[in-house]
Amino acid sequence: MRKIRKAVFPVAGLGTRFLPATKAIPKEMLTVVDRPVIQYVVDEARQAGIEHLIFVTGRNKGVIEDYFDIQVELVNTLTERGKEAELSLLDSLQPKPGTASFTRQQAPLGLGHAVWCARDLVGGEPFALLLPDMIMQAEQGCMKKMVELYEETGGNILSVEQCDPAETHKYGIVGRAEDVGTGFRIDGMVEKPKAAEAPSNFFISGRYILQPEIFDILETQEKGAGNEIQLTDGMLKLAARQDFYGYHFTGRTFDCGSKEGFIEANVAFALWRPDIREKVYDNLQELIENVEPKFAAAAE
Ligand code: G1P
Repeated sequence: MRKIRKAVFPVAGLGTRFLPATKAIPKEMLTVVDRPVIQYVVDEARQAGIEHLIFVTGRNKGVIEDYFDIQVELVNTLTERGKEAELSLLDSLQPKPGTASFTRQQAPLGLGHAVWCARDLVGGEPFALLLPDMIMQAEQGCMKKMVELYEETGGNILSVEQCDPAETHKYGIVGRAEDVGTGFRIDGMVEKPKAAEAPSNFFISGRYILQPEIFDILETQEKGAGNEIQLTDGMLKLAARQDFYGYHFTGRTFDCGSKEGFIEANVAFALWRPDIREKVYDNLQELIENVEPKFAAAAE
């Protein structure tokens, strides 16, 4: 079985839900505590043993490439000033030379098209795919657990979680067959179905391990839900030939593509950080105690 060495990060999305900030800042560069959203997703990939990062970017996303490069002037200034802690933090996050690649999705044609744009950089090997809107909090990263399941099963693996049955139209939904290891075999997939047409309430939560045959399928994949080329439609075709398994992730997931999810992520990761959590906790508690009576008064 081939090791999962490469990870694809589709970062071309416009981020319209975060206007006006995203006029000038890619949504993936918005900060959760003190690091950009994309850093959390890259950290999860590296924890899973990923060696090469592939970013599918778009117009106005150049700052993502700058972020993953060395900032020589900054390093020189920090060195002159003896800022050892900051230097070692930057060094620990720095991709090694030649281990990050960038390509552009030239038109916003959908997730399936974005993934297809990475085909030459991935080559003919199985790969990880991480959607940067979703950031996950768990002692052991979601992708690490997926790689462990993959080592038992082979095939293709999708992270899944359960949603409110009334919200299936927001996600890709899978059908659940028999349990296998830490997951289950998938026997159906639909992108953004109405509740009545959903095969279950298990939604695809943004982490994938896929075989390279997906690229040939995506090359001719027609537009689907939302008039976009959908990865889920391509995977459904691949599922006729290869096995798909769901890894049921049980940590916390934050949808940083929505304002509520992004703010919740900031609070949750601040409370997870030993250096600031006590102060943040006390301040939040004081804030909530003061705001609650105002909500109650407004409701009367
Ligand atoms: C995409 C996928 C969908 C998945 C979701 C997770 O949808 O197409 O299958 O459930 O990400 O966030 P999007 O959020 O881009 O509409």
